[in-house]
Amino acid sequence: MEGSDIVAAVEPEAYQREADLAIEDAFSLDALDEARVKYLGRSSWLKLALREVRDRETGMRLNGVREHLEERLARRQQELERAELDRTIREDRVDVTLPGTPHPRGHLHLVTQVRREVEDIFLGMGYEVVDGREVETTHYLFDALNMAPNHVTRSPLHTFYVGEDAVLRSETSPSQIHTMEAKPPPVYMVSLGRCYRRDTPDATHYPIFHQVEGLAVDRGITLADLKGTLRTLLRQLFGAEREAKFITHFFPFTEPSVEVLVSCFQCDGLGCPMCRHSGWIEIGGSGMVDPNVLRGVGYDPEEVSGFAFGWGLERMAILRNGLPDIRDLWADDLRFLRQF
Ligand code: DAH
Repeated sequence: MEGSDIVAAVEPEAYQREADLAIEDAFSLDALDEARVKYLGRSSWLKLALREVRDRETGMRLNGVREHLEERLARRQQELERAELDRTIREDRVDVTLPGTPHPRGHLHLVTQVRREVEDIFLGMGYEVVDGREVETTHYLFDALNMAPNHVTRSPLHTFYVGEDAVLRSETSPSQIHTMEAKPPPVYMVSLGRCYRRDTPDATHYPIFHQVEGLAVDRGITLADLKGTLRTLLRQLFGAEREAKFITHFFPFTEPSVEVLVSCFQCDGLGCPMCRHSGWIEIGGSGMVDPNVLRGVGYDPEEVSGFAFGWGLERMAILRNGLPDIRDLWADDLRFLRQF
């Protein structure tokens, strides 16, 4: 195209109207830049035409358009910059009085709650809380607890063996032996923790569970101390109205051995499905420490006597909360666990 053809190709007023609209429609600085390049840029029609224009009158018209557009662009740029600043001020404003992002807080697992509660009850009665071992030797789990060589829990079908004579403890009772070996009487201790048995999981069994072991050895400890202490525990756990019943049983490490029952807190002893219509609920084992066990740790059964007990923590949690299935305690389902 010849220079004069370029100038003649576009009508300046139409060009200006078109450019005005583009500037008006630019809602961002980027869009405004595009309009600037298109209508005032080096290869825009206006710039090319200004270079080619020969007659004064057209030159003035074109320059008028250029000035007009430059002014419009500058104004629009100011508007957009101010809007942008307003937005940043509005959006970036930090209101320090707004509440922060909440961090969801968990709580202790139900079994841990029961564990701490039982610990507190015994600390309140002057007992110490002792750590046990989850991996034991057969000596501490069986022999020192006066178990006969053919006792059923020695079977690998009952207890997890992790070595020739290393086992996962199936009860917390070995903690009694460790405690008595470590110091002379008197002993007032509880030891709480995990136990393991080769049980198939069902509503009332799980291969991992928790027990609280208790042991009191001193001069003149009698069955009356056992009854008073465990009745206190039951009442703290299940309510001040509860009665305790003690019936005979057998454990290798106690003589006599005692099974403890609590009057049903659901029906108050009248009979209901929870207590299998007997009015009583079994809580766990206890007894007077067998003289053989005392002798084994170097205590003199003529000098001191003691009582012991071992109860399940899951059982306490289940009974108190009316839980239908022990497996729920291990399923890690927050919808279940959050209820407690
Ligand atoms: N160890 C027993 C069990 O797991 C419970 C038990 C009974 C513990 C009598 C004791 C006790 O300390 O004296 O079945």
